Amino acid sequence: MRVGLLTGGSDCPGLNAVIRAVVRKGVQDHGDTFVGFRDGWRGVLVDDAAELGITDVRGTLPRGGTILGSSRTDPLAQADGPARVRATLESRGLDGLIVIGGIHTLGAAASLADEHGLPCVGVPKTIDNDVSRTDYTVGFDTAVTVATETIDRLHTTAESHKRVLVVEVMGRESGWIATYAGLAGGANGVLIPEYPFDLERVCSWVTSRFGASYAPIVVVADNARPADTTVRLGGLSGIGEWLGREIERRTGHEARATVLGHIQRGGTPTPFDRWLATRFGLHAIDAVHDRAWGRMVALRGTEVTRVRLADAVAAPKTVDRSRYAENEVFFG
Ligand code: F6P
Repeated sequence: MRVGLLTGGSDCPGLNAVIRAVVRKGVQDHGDTFVGFRDGWRGVLVDDAAELGITDVRGTLPRGGTILGSSRTDPLAQADGPARVRATLESRGLDGLIVIGGIHTLGAAASLADEHGLPCVGVPKTIDNDVSRTDYTVGFDTAVTVATETIDRLHTTAESHKRVLVVEVMGRESGWIATYAGLAGGANGVLIPEYPFDLERVCSWVTSRFGASYAPIVVVADNARPADTTVRLGGLSGIGEWLGREIERRTGHEARATVLGHIQRGGTPTPFDRWLATRFGLHAIDAVHDRAWGRMVALRGTEVTRVRLADAVAAPKTVDRSRYAENEVFFG
């Protein structure tokens, strides 16, 4: 078969491992040929692409980012988008398209497959882990690993100076990175978008932690917000900085904020992300050969399965109460 590949949305570690596995298995087992589109859906809309062979993917397993480039271009944002995607697939002689992306990139693939009959198969990736119907997305484990190492490092400096250290992590509308890294790093408070927080409660955790002679670490997801909706974050750069300032003002304990930013999205993938990305790639090319259009590969437990793309993107996967309650045991 002749197969197209694209990576869309925010980059993350493990994208190249997916591409490598697809190409290796496709070429070796089936004699497939591949076309890599540049910068996500943009490359499909304007037919910006190059042939992709085994030599192009050699040595890319541990490499972060994406050799194809990425963008947030939405092919459904323009009325003739689906027709242009179809035209490119036809002119390139493609039998199928493997779309590696998060909710928005995969959402476009779902519509193109279900409503326009285009041959798309999805692979879920994002550090946010917010794609439904899969336990994990490619890139999440690396982000959690980086965030956990950061928390470990912050513990020692917080203790030395008897300071509160706030660390802001990413996650978009979900708190998966904060929840996992907070538990793994022993955070004394974890604030996520799913559960708006009470600032007085956060301050009481800080005070009680100092009462036990330890310096507290508070992890805050970039979209976590106070329950009091009248609160304004002011001219500060983000929730982490605001929180540090408020904690210091209200408790009298010196506070500092660290914004982890794109560090958690860059660099080499962890072994788990390489394992997941490679298995997703192997199963994605199988799905193409089965003509399982409109499907996404997904991890359930340790098994890779297939789910409907439309179901995977219907709503973001969020952290439920019982999961968050596990973190709460360690607050204060
Ligand atoms: O979706 C991945 C992500 O890193 C989110 O966690 C974050 O909110 C957003 O992208 C940041 O986007 P940008 O790289 O455009 O600043």
